[in-house]
Amino acid sequence: MIYLDNAATSFPKPEPVYRGMEEFVRTAGANPGRGGHRRAVEAESMITDTRRLLARLFGCARPERIVFGHNATDGLNMAIKGVLRAGDHAITSVLEHNSVSRPLNQLEQDGVIQLTRLPATGDHRIDPDDVARAFRPNTRLVALTHVSNVTGTIQPIAAIGAIARERDALFLIDAAQSAGVVPIEFDRDGIDLLAFTGHKGLCGPTGTGGLVVGERAAVRPWREGGTGGDSTRPVQPEELPHRLEGGTPNVFGIAGLREGVRVLLGRGVDTVLPHERDLIKTFVTSLRRPERLSWYGADRVITERNGEGRVGLVSANLEGFAPAEVGAILDEQFDIAVRPGLHCAPYAHKHLGTYPQGTVRLSVGILTTADDMRRAAAAYDDITAG
Ligand SMILES: Cc1ncc(COP(=O)(O)O)c(C=O)c1O
Repeated sequence: MIYLDNAATSFPKPEPVYRGMEEFVRTAGANPGRGGHRRAVEAESMITDTRRLLARLFGCARPERIVFGHNATDGLNMAIKGVLRAGDHAITSVLEHNSVSRPLNQLEQDGVIQLTRLPATGDHRIDPDDVARAFRPNTRLVALTHVSNVTGTIQPIAAIGAIARERDALFLIDAAQSAGVVPIEFDRDGIDLLAFTGHKGLCGPTGTGGLVVGERAAVRPWREGGTGGDSTRPVQPEELPHRLEGGTPNVFGIAGLREGVRVLLGRGVDTVLPHERDLIKTFVTSLRRPERLSWYGADRVITERNGEGRVGLVSANLEGFAPAEVGAILDEQFDIAVRPGLHCAPYAHKHLGTYPQGTVRLSVGILTTADDMRRAAAAYDDITAG
């Protein structure tokens, strides 16, 4: 199989991820607990070690500010519902995944907050000047994706972070598509809250992810419960990460995530983007008739500017074929996995003019090869040749 659906989840995982999980399940496998038996302490220290590695990866000086949850959706809900209060205004954009749009839309529908959804520019970016203009006296939160999962464009988060900070609002970024792919500097770039998922670019298993919480963000816990430590307090402790981590964590998953992050730190996250951009370029330049595809502005950036400002995913449509049809043909006749449809980002497709049928999204990962891309291009050539 040629797997080009890494933006949904990365596959396969690097070998150490499988081995790390198996070893942990077989040999340690206990419920973490700071005051417990040796295996419980070992489980706790594995989790602490994973926090430390993630803090390094994200440029965050304080590992205890890495809070584990189930996935990016969990981290985003934790942040959005944990900081917004009645009467607040929030700024978001048309490029968001439903994991950002839906919780915000619901709060707006319930009359709790006011919401501004910014348009994207012709090159699929959020303009920092638009963000600055959207501010109101009651703006508490700017919630934006770091990388669009539909267009693959990297957003100018440092510029937007500076604007949010100047105006005393919190800046939440959805790093589902950027963590492990785009170098991130949490402390430097004015980010207050960063939601991440473990199973995409971080190469870990599903069921892992969470939220990085900056010093300026006070997040109300929305899941309260046991923390494996001091049980005497009647309510959730004040200290992070336990304030936001009620319940037994996904220990096996985190054991795998630790190995994924180690692999990335070992090879250097800064090597991932050039690798991904080369692969997408190989795909575009291997096609015999690239003009048969609608690229939504991406093809020239990929071929002429080496995919600058983009990650290794591209949305395209093939003339005369519905996206679902292309996805099914690639799957059934060529054993190539891609993702057709709306990618849980309906506003992004309205922006592109591809709503409601969507696009076909091809997305690469660290284990994708140039040969995979040449074979995918050959499959497209076969489809267009009928
Ligand atoms: C931009 C973006 N945000 C959020 C998510 C949700 O991630 P998860 O399913 O891990 O919660 C995704 C997943 O596709 C995504 O691409």
